[in-house]
Amino acid sequence: MSDDLFAPPPEPTDADKARVAHLRAEIERHNALYYDRAAPEVSDREYDALVAELEALEGRFPALAAPDSPTRRPGGGLQEGFASVAHAVPMLSIQNTYNADELREWDARNRRGLGLEPDTPIEYVVEVKIDGVAVSLRYEQGRFVLGATRGDGTRGDDITQNLHTIARIPRTIAVPAGARVLEVRGEVYYPRQAFERMNAAREVAGQKTFANPRNAAAGTLKLLDTRIVAERPLDIFVYAAGESDYPLPPTHFGFLAWLEALGFPANPERQLCASIDEVIAATEVWEQRRHTLGYDTDGLVVKVNRRDWQAELGATSKAPRALVAYKFSAGQAQSRLLSVEWNVGRTGAVTPVAIMEPVRLAGTTVERATLHNLDELEFLGARLGDALIVEKGGEIIPKVVRVVDSLRTGAEQPVDVPRACPSCGAQLERKPLDADELARRARELARREQANDLDDRTRFRLTRTHEPFLLCVNAACPAQALERIEHYAARRAMDIDGLGPERIALLADAGLVRSIGDLYDLREEQLLELPGFQEKSARNLVEAIDDSKTRPLARFLFGLGIRHVGESSARDLARAFGTLDSFLSATEEQLLAVEGIGETVAASITDFLAHEENRALLARLREHGVEPAPDETAALREAHRDPAFDGRTFVLTGELEAMTRDAAKAEIEKRGGKVTGSVSKKTNVLVAGANAGSKLAKATELGVETWDEEAFLRALGR
Ligand code: IVH
Repeated sequence: MSDDLFAPPPEPTDADKARVAHLRAEIERHNALYYDRAAPEVSDREYDALVAELEALEGRFPALAAPDSPTRRPGGGLQEGFASVAHAVPMLSIQNTYNADELREWDARNRRGLGLEPDTPIEYVVEVKIDGVAVSLRYEQGRFVLGATRGDGTRGDDITQNLHTIARIPRTIAVPAGARVLEVRGEVYYPRQAFERMNAAREVAGQKTFANPRNAAAGTLKLLDTRIVAERPLDIFVYAAGESDYPLPPTHFGFLAWLEALGFPANPERQLCASIDEVIAATEVWEQRRHTLGYDTDGLVVKVNRRDWQAELGATSKAPRALVAYKFSAGQAQSRLLSVEWNVGRTGAVTPVAIMEPVRLAGTTVERATLHNLDELEFLGARLGDALIVEKGGEIIPKVVRVVDSLRTGAEQPVDVPRACPSCGAQLERKPLDADELARRARELARREQANDLDDRTRFRLTRTHEPFLLCVNAACPAQALERIEHYAARRAMDIDGLGPERIALLADAGLVRSIGDLYDLREEQLLELPGFQEKSARNLVEAIDDSKTRPLARFLFGLGIRHVGESSARDLARAFGTLDSFLSATEEQLLAVEGIGETVAASITDFLAHEENRALLARLREHGVEPAPDETAALREAHRDPAFDGRTFVLTGELEAMTRDAAKAEIEKRGGKVTGSVSKKTNVLVAGANAGSKLAKATELGVETWDEEAFLRALGR
């Protein structure tokens, strides 16, 4: 050992401190994206590099170590804590179907695969598809020796210790003579009620909440501290076998009962169906019943009952042929319109929101749904007391899709449309469309009429003479200001943790915050005087606001709430200009030159920057040290540029074994290539995986260079 052991530890410079703060914020943000939203922005490798750099800095400067650093807490770079294990039999996924026709096609395919007559029925088992985390439980000589996550299907993480906390997993099972190994596969889930309790407790404690029970189950199984896992009431249902030398029953239905006899929890919600017709009838029943279970489900799994037939049908590289998932339709539910609330948005648009009797929809209780705008309200013709159908599509906020006219009683009352802004009382305006816009709509109407492509909603929209929005034009309207702050702090923008709508309203009511700039003046002492703040939560909020100062430029530009600048335009702008300074000095021409930025967006940006109060806001933010991190993609792109890809246009088709489409696309783009959807004369390279079809034929016809997966991987240097 050297003398260094006794030397005082080195002191970190300001730059070291800033770097550590930046790394922590970034890692937390990626954790949230990965664990809470299941929408990671960076690859595992890039994430690991951030964690490694932070660990190195913390190791070098003990003064910078912190008990709450993401390097010390589970859920942050700690997956390395689990050993990786190979699955003896790969854990495949399941093909999806969405309707009765697709189920019938699958049934017919099975019959062909098995060489059966077209009208011989096949027996199926219908199970609930649990929205949880797939695991494999391995028993050797009757003892539970290994529990693993699915991982990439061939290797997963060894989470045996965490699975030991689930009481319903048997520790030992009976072993028939001559047998040695049994692997049982199942789904770990977080029961809904327990999930809601835990999330409520986390919210009170100022901790991050989980987006849904599946994320909570996944996050919990990844914890390194088994004691915390033990406090969470995870549960499991088993449904399949992996490696096994046990004599198994000849049918899947029998197998499930056999698992139960061995002491495993199989789901009692299972049904043996004599034919695909019975399966389809079961899907109809479950569309209604699915919300009555104590856990989340996103569909059903239909399985060929005879296990010898399962084996005969075999598997593709991804999924067994003898099973399909039937996905439930996008959630719809019926409720009643109680009142209409008018919401003032950050651009001054005043929009109607339906307040309804609470109803279960896609796993949550909803009582508000958007009615979009005045046009939509008029089109729907909704009246107070009406029965409404609400739907949760891809969006988080449910929307009203129609009124159930047949349930009208005659007692329904018209909805009052406000004349004054519900927040500031200013007179609301509804702008007439200008002549150009009216002409454009008339042309579109004619075109669609000719093409016989006109539904009622589109016709209604194209025949309006005014903007669909009511507008509050008072720039000082407090509701607009609140909405702007909310937008700025939102996850997708500056991601200020702990600064949601309620807190913002609280801060505004206390007179502490009137605009974005005020956020950076907030002090812990001020927060401590407000209800609901304790020392820790006050400190956390001030720190979270401070952390936001170095968010990536794209988030900042989106967060400003410039009209027409959505997330993707903000990203395009950040990529093109790199830094805030260069964005701020851009001319309208330079803006227009950015790919993806059109006239409306460019004009809106110049307009925003021409306004004195916006200029002042930007200056004030910068005085406070808000310095968005420059966009690095420009520099990265330069570093990865590769002549085999750079400037060339690619089309992907067929199935790739080694990576997903999205990953392949990212690899190409990283190297300077572009990926489009269809083959044309402009295509330079077609990457054709297994079972490529019409695109390959077209490429061959056009003489486009074609790479198989091997050639593609070689070009990537793999
Ligand atoms: S059978 C080849 N049965 O859904 C995989 N899977 O989206 C055999 N899942 O990876 C799985 N409930 O994790 C089966 N009753 C059930 C299921 C189920 C949930 C999961 C499983 C699978 C995923 C596919």
